Amino acid sequence: MYVISITGVSSDVHHGTYKKDLTKPETIQIAIKSLKLSYNKAETLKEIKLLNSCKHSNIVTFIGWMESSESHPICIITEFMASGDLATYLSKPDNLLLLSTTFSYIFQVLDAMIYLSHKHILHRDLAARNCLLNENYKILKINDFGLSREMDMNYEYISEENPRLPFRWLPLEALLPTSSQYKIFTFKGDIWSFGILIWEIFERGTNLYNGLNLPDLISFLQKGQRLSCPKQCPIELYTIMLECWDENPENRPIFDVLQNVIKEVYGQIEPDKLDIPVKLDDSLDEGYESPSQSILQIS
Ligand SMILES: Nc1ncnc2c1ncn2[C@@H]1O[C@H](COP(=O)(O)OP(=O)(O)OP(=O)(O)O)[C@@H](O)[C@H]1O
Ligand SMILES: [Mg+2]
Repeated sequence: MYVISITGVSSDVHHGTYKKDLTKPETIQIAIKSLKLSYNKAETLKEIKLLNSCKHSNIVTFIGWMESSESHPICIITEFMASGDLATYLSKPDNLLLLSTTFSYIFQVLDAMIYLSHKHILHRDLAARNCLLNENYKILKINDFGLSREMDMNYEYISEENPRLPFRWLPLEALLPTSSQYKIFTFKGDIWSFGILIWEIFERGTNLYNGLNLPDLISFLQKGQRLSCPKQCPIELYTIMLECWDENPENRPIFDVLQNVIKEVYGQIEPDKLDIPVKLDDSLDEGYESPSQSILQIS
């Protein structure tokens, strides 16, 4: 690999150019992500092999890996997605998002997740920030799956200090303290996160649970309360999201079933409604119902 230029996109993802054949002028744009968390190298290399085996049109293409400095020992190199992540895209009010596009994104995520689940690969960090868009915003690819995430499940990692850490996307069972160092996360955890991702799309990146902290979130969820239905989300789709957030992981649907039922919901939408823009509404800042007010109960 020949990196011609590296300019910072964020603290740990850089943008570069890759020339497969040095004798030819063709280059491709790449993203170089340095893994900052402490990790087990053998495990990480195993995961990298797995990443390399995933070829799907809705999964960011893995290109390679390299060892760099001591502070960022392993870098993962993938294709570069020109329009960046979905969360940032959704949060900009000027970006047009049609109802048809929300469903297109949901179906693309489902295609990728069905592929991964059939390969028995957990994502463990499914969220709008880990969905990337191509230059014309039509193609969505999921990113950052499966990477030695054991550390992510550490209670310390899901602490309050860093608001970008993913506890608000995690299922209830992964938030509860256990005697083990690691939190419980199964395929049904990805289903919970998928429900949150649909909510993020319809709320266009509004602050999830309005910033509820970890202990309050646990008690909110344990009482059977859940995120409320986004204003422009079809109620039938919200019913499916609630199934994804069932306290009992066994009761949550699998991705294959979700694809069928969401297709049915989509098929029932009147064609002229599909062109309605899903707006970022400031009045929807309250992205959850406060524990004392919520009437949403799940048995
Ligand atoms: N392949 C890529 N192409 C284009 N931009 C990328 C790519 N990978 C990451 N980025 C950009 O870099 C940002 C930071 O990515 P990073 O994975 O470090 O953090 P995150 O996605 O916010 O959190 P996390 O992955 O830990 O849940 C992303 O939000 C995205 O905008
Ligand atoms: Mg990411």
